[in-house]
Amino acid sequence: GSQQQTLTITTPDDWHLHVRDGDNMRSVVPHTAAHFARAIIMPNLVPPVTNTQLALDYRARIAAATPKGAAFTPLMTLYLTDNTSADDVAAAAAAGIVAYKLYPAGATTNSDSGVTDMQRCLPALRAMAQAGLLLLVHGEVTDADVDMFDREAVFIETKLKPLLDQVPELKVVMEHITTADAAAFVAGAPANVAATITPQHMLLNRNALFAKGLRPHNYCLPILKPMLSCALCGCSTPLPALPFTAELQKGLRPHNYCLPILKRERHREAVAAAATSGSAKFFLGTDSAPHAVGTKEAPCGCAGIFSAPIALSLYAMAFEQAGALDRLEAFASHNGPDFYGLPRNSGSITLVKKDFAVPPSYSFGASTVVPMWAGETLSWQVQQ
Ligand code: NCD
Ligand code: DOR
Ligand code: ZN
Ligand code: ZN
Repeated sequence: GSQQQTLTITTPDDWHLHVRDGDNMRSVVPHTAAHFARAIIMPNLVPPVTNTQLALDYRARIAAATPKGAAFTPLMTLYLTDNTSADDVAAAAAAGIVAYKLYPAGATTNSDSGVTDMQRCLPALRAMAQAGLLLLVHGEVTDADVDMFDREAVFIETKLKPLLDQVPELKVVMEHITTADAAAFVAGAPANVAATITPQHMLLNRNALFAKGLRPHNYCLPILKPMLSCALCGCSTPLPALPFTAELQKGLRPHNYCLPILKRERHREAVAAAATSGSAKFFLGTDSAPHAVGTKEAPCGCAGIFSAPIALSLYAMAFEQAGALDRLEAFASHNGPDFYGLPRNSGSITLVKKDFAVPPSYSFGASTVVPMWAGETLSWQVQQ
């Protein structure tokens, strides 16, 4: 037939991954280790991974959770704080830590210890540039008066551009870009600036937060007025102003809630176009971020989409939709290691065109986690 039926690519890496800790970690690490050779491990544990010893201990726990026979290398990152010093950075580099993660304080899950003032980090950032460590950025401002759909674009103007002016040689990865603004900024930036792209920001726009049936755990009354109180739990926490739209009446989809939040279709198109453009500045980072089902279907639900077991199938679908399957390999397996200055993997993995139903949930410690695309069909499968 005219349709491509198999695709063999160099073994890929995941350049942005949350594996949590403890029993939760033991549930999710095997999914990534089954398909990816390496992954950049995010440090937003409780408490965060702020120093080299914590990262080395965490790496050992991940190694112990990796199935025997799987060739999987976790690449460790440290959580940047206002107090990270140039000496901390030198110690991290000497121990094989590859990057620091910048979470603006309050921007997302477990970011309370994040950076409050970038100027306080300047000595550490200069030491990173000198030692060849990367800065991975959660690029959202946190100001309550900036609309959450605008937080990425405002971050670029008010934080990222000034930072790059001050430390122009620093290698920076703008993680999980979600807007046309970010895609254009990265594409036009110098060679030391790159970006990761998630499957959800290639495949979904913000309508996916409100599509199809009602989610009873998120149903508050009165739902359609601005600044309502939460009727579900009776608390008086003001919720953000909600627009009176037909979409919202159809109900909320907490499992599609992640940060930065899904954007309108115009932005999804720009992000997907960047990923499939062939530019070496864009590479695979799932941001697979598992939360127990009960913490997402909750009055104050966590942000994060779990995609690890099906991520390659999702990316294959997105690249196929763009008519760019021939560019998946560079995005998934070449651009990341090239930017990080690491060797490409030597093995390969084959995707087969074959329908399968995504499970409604996966085991997650003592609970379960609902994956992206739960209960729906995907058409590319990793050959076992
Ligand atoms: C996570 C954990 O315990 O590892 N908990 C959870 O999903 N309920 C941490 C987290 O997601 O913040
Ligand atoms: O949706 C998200 N979840 N975005 C983040 O930045 C963090 C992540 C998490 O750790 O749950
Ligand atoms: Zn993030
Ligand atoms: Zn993340």
